[in-house]
Amino acid sequence: MKQPVRVAITGGAGQISYSLLFRIASGEMLGADQPIILHLLEMPVALEALKGVAMEIDDCAYPLLHDIVMSDDLKVTFTDVEYALLVGATPRGPGMERNDLLRINGDIFTKQGKALNDYAKRNVKVLVVGNPANTNAYIAMKSAPDLDAKNFTAMTRLDHNRALSQLAAKTGSRVTDIKKMVVWGNHSATQYPDISHTTVAGKAAKELVDQEWIVNDFIPTVQQRGAAIIKARGKSSAASAGYAALEHVRDWAMGTGDNWVSMAIPSDGSYGIPEGLIYSFPVTTKDGEYSIVQGLEIDEFSRARMDATQKELEQERDAVADLLA
Ligand code: NAD
Ligand code: LMR
Repeated sequence: MKQPVRVAITGGAGQISYSLLFRIASGEMLGADQPIILHLLEMPVALEALKGVAMEIDDCAYPLLHDIVMSDDLKVTFTDVEYALLVGATPRGPGMERNDLLRINGDIFTKQGKALNDYAKRNVKVLVVGNPANTNAYIAMKSAPDLDAKNFTAMTRLDHNRALSQLAAKTGSRVTDIKKMVVWGNHSATQYPDISHTTVAGKAAKELVDQEWIVNDFIPTVQQRGAAIIKARGKSSAASAGYAALEHVRDWAMGTGDNWVSMAIPSDGSYGIPEGLIYSFPVTTKDGEYSIVQGLEIDEFSRARMDATQKELEQERDAVADLLA
């Protein structure tokens, strides 16, 4: 049996965690032979609720789960962790502007980045789920100069899965028939779900659907799916987000083979995206490392959309620059 790994999850008493923690503890994320110690962070007011969640996890008697560490202290939470899923964040309230949210969460992710820098294992893999996820990941990365910037990522896997599911429904196929889906850019309404390279059962997706559907249905549906769920459910997506987080980390740790997935990662300059911006790219993963899929042809239609989401990320980055000074 392997040694247990420490996995930190912030916002442990929130809705996403309520589906995610149980699956991590069951071994679905890191494998059936990998014992786990959960490190759960919460706000002081939510620690009692967190205890209740931990009682339920205990009641599952998961064979792989060795311990649960609960705290409102960043040092306790991040010491020796090899994975950190940063889920907790302040949600947008009535009348709050995007910039207000950026700044409030900017403060949270500056502190969490510093604490990861000081206490986590040097190989810690970080996934930011809390919104605005890309820029929060950027802030955490910049606040952790001693860690490898490549280890800071943000979640666009939910967008990727949404895109797969929409295309499968439209083409009457199974999601497993679909290969080479791509989501570029920000986890926001400017993201660009791109089927230019996608195949469905070996056929080019673009030959199976018309451009009108791509422009007026597919792209806006995926971009607006989070808002549509909030409208229908009265709360933001939680189980689907938790599952996407699990898949993001699982694939990063365990490898994708040839399968493309979308991850928001610090750009290395590929496809002209400015270096360091946390931008969603198509990647494959192997041995715990991701690589951007190279050599894709980008037509004018795609470039305009990739530029728009890049511009939004640059604006977000500039809006928090003083927090990082
Ligand atoms: P939630 O409000 O149910 O839970 C968030 C939890 O985080 C709360 O229990 C809160 O007490 C805690 N928290 C807040 N600030 C914290 C801090 N500084 N330290 C520790 N804990 C803290 O929210 P949720 O539905 O679980 O969603 C969490 C975040 O994920 C939100 O920002 C949401 O917008 C985002 N989200 C992202 C995606 C994505 O695809 N990237 C998808 C869905 C939701
Ligand atoms: C989602 O994509 O479901 C979340 O990021 C929630 C939101 O605000 O869209």
